[in-house]
Amino acid sequence: MTSRLVINRPDDMHLHLRDGAEMQDVIGFTTKRFGRAIIMPNLKLPVTTTIAAMAYRDRILKSLYTEGGFRPLMTLYLTDSTSATEISNARSSGHIIGVKLYPAGATTHSDSGVTDILKCTPALEKMAELGLPLLVHGEVVDPKVDVFDREQVFIDRILAPLVQRLPELRIVFEHITTQAAVEFVLDADSQVAATITAHHLLYNRNALFHGGLRPYYYCLPVLKREREREALIRAAISGNPKFFLGTDSAPHARNAKETSCGCAGIFSAPAAIELYAEVFEQAGALERLEAFASFHGADFYGLPRNKGKITLVRSAWMMPERYPYGADEIVPLRAGEKVHWALAD
Ligand code: DOR
Ligand code: ZN
Repeated sequence: MTSRLVINRPDDMHLHLRDGAEMQDVIGFTTKRFGRAIIMPNLKLPVTTTIAAMAYRDRILKSLYTEGGFRPLMTLYLTDSTSATEISNARSSGHIIGVKLYPAGATTHSDSGVTDILKCTPALEKMAELGLPLLVHGEVVDPKVDVFDREQVFIDRILAPLVQRLPELRIVFEHITTQAAVEFVLDADSQVAATITAHHLLYNRNALFHGGLRPYYYCLPVLKREREREALIRAAISGNPKFFLGTDSAPHARNAKETSCGCAGIFSAPAAIELYAEVFEQAGALERLEAFASFHGADFYGLPRNKGKITLVRSAWMMPERYPYGADEIVPLRAGEKVHWALAD
């Protein structure tokens, strides 16, 4: 059995860092493991302009403990009124790597999101022209659609027509959760790729109800049934460059999770790459982890691959029950349980 794995330093192509004291408390988990991370723009005040994204980037850089090599890759939050000029500004900034589509009301801080994708045509056409990718939260918000079907219906109603209308547009279908999404990505041309989280690879929807209601397994898109998880594993370990790592680590304070209407989000950053190693090991595909975690994402975004390496060892450790988080605390994925791989310093 492999007990030591040296891989090129990976990138997290989908991360929520929040802001202020909360960001300060979580950022170190990511910088320890990843060379770069794509930072989601769904702050309380969404990052809808290039100026706001540059200011957020400055705050992130200032919050880094060391001048180590970590680089935040910024995104813009798409709204019905994002202009083509704003897209050009984003591209010329040199620091904005994509534009995030949240259907309005789909998830945390998505109220200012898109109500009608057709209203975004000028922005999307400019993105296609400039090669700036669209990062998609792929769920419809139609209350008549079953929560577990929202990704599949999004493909049919929004994504497939969009790809037809704008075949040049580069698209990352974020945190995919279903076989339908895997098949959609496989059938599309090379401009369409997808991220897969560790939690959707490790757990199915039973985890939400194991012995009671489990808020720390609640995220959006919600965990799906076992056969969908199996399809995600096949995609992740396939070696196909269209699939790459994006944790969607989404910190929320305990008081926002342990309540009658808890927030969606799984905080996986404290063991992000270690948990992916578990998945790949269980699937007998550890040798494919490096490409999924460190090559495919960088290649899709046209970035150089990271130069450094990280070392993972097969050595179990206990995830703490909680960590400090601003004025509150935060409960990580696997709290009080074993993680089977560890990062060697
Ligand atoms: O579970 C989620 N949490 N899904 C999202 O799309 C947003 C994220 C967050 O920001 O908390
Ligand atoms: Zn996310």
